[in-house]
Amino acid sequence: MKTVITYGTFDLFHVGHVKLLRRLRGLGDRLVIGLSTDEFNLGKGKKTVVPYEQREEILRAVRYVDDVFPEACWEQKAEDIRREQASIFAMGDDWAGKFDHLSEFVEVIYLPRTAGISTTDLKQVMQGLRDERVDSVRHALDHARMLLDELAKLG
Ligand code: CTP
Repeated sequence: MKTVITYGTFDLFHVGHVKLLRRLRGLGDRLVIGLSTDEFNLGKGKKTVVPYEQREEILRAVRYVDDVFPEACWEQKAEDIRREQASIFAMGDDWAGKFDHLSEFVEVIYLPRTAGISTTDLKQVMQGLRDERVDSVRHALDHARMLLDELAKLG
């Protein structure tokens, strides 16, 4: 039984995550995920849109995922690798080189990211939609103000 271990936030779950999880599971027989807690993310200056419990439920519903546990700090990885009896530690290549020190316990692999999609991109799209809505409300208010001015002049 070959266990693969990975870590991440998996906020606003998207197709880049699916493709990564499929490839990770293909490296072994069992895939376990250290899912970053909301508090751990806040400590990194990252606010999640989807809370931990829901991110966990989504990951557990993915057919490539066998188990999920909380990632609450940077230092827990060696202990997790030991407990899970992992033989491969793998991450997307945005982390290339960052976890090479774990190679004394486990094989460390970085997989290419899927181009053109990320949680950050999705957050920007959502922000853009919000800005558009604010603009159209502002426009409607300006129009209403203009009509009120016209009415005031009439009477
Ligand atoms: N990942 C990937 N391809 C993408 C996006 C993410 O392979 N297009 C991988 C990352 O390399 C990481 C895992 O998915 O190993 C979880 O990444 P996470 O940081 O949660 O997702 P991102 O979309 O990269 O989020 P952010 O934009 O906030 O960094």
